[in-house]
Amino acid sequence: MLSLGASALADSSAMPHIEKQNGRYALFVDGAPYLMLGAQVHNSSAWPAMLPKVWPAMKALHVNTVEIPVYWEQIEPVQGKFDFSLVDVLLQQAREHNVRLDLLWFATWKNGSGHYQPEWMKLRPDLYPRMVGVDGKLIDSPSPHSIPAMKADCNAFAHLMGHLKEEDPQHTVIIVQVENEPGTWGGIRDHASIGQKLFDAPVPADLLAALHVGQPGNTWTQAFGRDADEFFHAYSVAHYIGQVAAAGKAVYPLPMYVNASLRDPVNPEWPPHYEVGGATDNVLSIWKAAAPAIDILAPDIYISDPQKYQVVLDHYARPDNPLFVPETGGDVSRFLYSALDRGTIGFSPFGMDYTGFPVPADSFSDGSEHLETFLAPYALNYIQLGPIMREVARLNFEGKLRATAELPGEASTKLDFDGWTANVEYGAARFDAPKGNEKPQGRALVAQLAPDQFLVTGNFCKILFHPKSGLPWQYLKVEEGTYENGVFKPYRIWNGDETDWGINFKELPQVLRVSLYEIHQLQ
Ligand code: DGJ
Repeated sequence: MLSLGASALADSSAMPHIEKQNGRYALFVDGAPYLMLGAQVHNSSAWPAMLPKVWPAMKALHVNTVEIPVYWEQIEPVQGKFDFSLVDVLLQQAREHNVRLDLLWFATWKNGSGHYQPEWMKLRPDLYPRMVGVDGKLIDSPSPHSIPAMKADCNAFAHLMGHLKEEDPQHTVIIVQVENEPGTWGGIRDHASIGQKLFDAPVPADLLAALHVGQPGNTWTQAFGRDADEFFHAYSVAHYIGQVAAAGKAVYPLPMYVNASLRDPVNPEWPPHYEVGGATDNVLSIWKAAAPAIDILAPDIYISDPQKYQVVLDHYARPDNPLFVPETGGDVSRFLYSALDRGTIGFSPFGMDYTGFPVPADSFSDGSEHLETFLAPYALNYIQLGPIMREVARLNFEGKLRATAELPGEASTKLDFDGWTANVEYGAARFDAPKGNEKPQGRALVAQLAPDQFLVTGNFCKILFHPKSGLPWQYLKVEEGTYENGVFKPYRIWNGDETDWGINFKELPQVLRVSLYEIHQLQ
């Protein structure tokens, strides 16, 4: 696995946190911007018996961060009695494997249901009820209006965070997902009497004020019309989870996020034909207002359509929300670069272990052999970016980085910098015009290190620089190397065939420092 990117100046006592500067975000770990090159295990893989099938996959991927669940039913099997032995195993083994952790709190909600609630909750539907649908039938989704459930979750989560505070002074855990894809499949809101009473009551004044809609005293229907049921449910779920996150942060304030199952970003379905109440693109402002303790609303992107993938990234990279892709799947590895262009703090394919469970690649069913093929493009990204992740995170935070991924039918694209343009071409040989790669898989990252110097990397593309002055120019030097403790260490100079027709990247992980020179020659 990669080193953690610790530089000589790293301060491991510094609390992980999110910073905003000039409208851009960074996740700070050990006192400096950090890019999560992550992977998530399958849902039932966080058990000691399964971990030997997790670490080899993480090693093959070259991740720096593992996303792994913590199960409420396991840590609080009897109400008020906590067992953190599995959490301790995760901490210890993550440290041995030199990776950080993103812990996923599978609690009141997991994929919209309450299946990870402890037995003592499942057996008391009077205290911890499910939702009731418009037809009066029970829905397999927890009611967000149960105060006992919310208090029990706050208590368990606060205990978990307290345990981390005690047992993890070196910050192996850098971020926590609160719940998992919360919301409801197959219903729009809770029609039980308690839910109905709240729905008929006025909308909380602070929500109306935050959204700049309606008048004080408006009911949900008056303020939101045909969206009333959905917005009410989103507010209710977000408010509950905001309380859970706040209870945890009061004990130990790690960055916290909520992951969202998406609706179609271009032609959205009508509820209940997607998971309603979660942080879908249409209710992000409601979530921001109702759950201020949640730092990030994050999309789980299982959409393979390349254009729609970009639209999702645009929806979630907002001035009030750092971009983070905590789950993704399919042939989308290059979209890490699309996410970087929008300032992402991390990226993580789902289902990356050798336990043999086939999701999400339904095309394989027997575990590791095909999984290897599936892992390879993600591994290439991480092998390439791992050694420079601190620089990538810092340059992105400073607004000096641009990145791009090839879209079908796209032969080239331009990345704009102070004084220079970097032209990224796909499927171009020496002199030919670019025509796009046969399989769109190009990706490029360019960051301005100095007025005439760039950090450049990519795959399956050619990069050509042009000065905006229109003056003739030349390479001063094109160095291939890597960063060690924040210092670029070149190990060869590219020249001749390697640069005369542009800078060509194939499938090798190569990082260049490119120094350019405009020729001011008198004639
Ligand atoms: C999204 C969920 O968040 C994950 O836990 C997992 O269930 C995946 N879907 C794939 O099944």
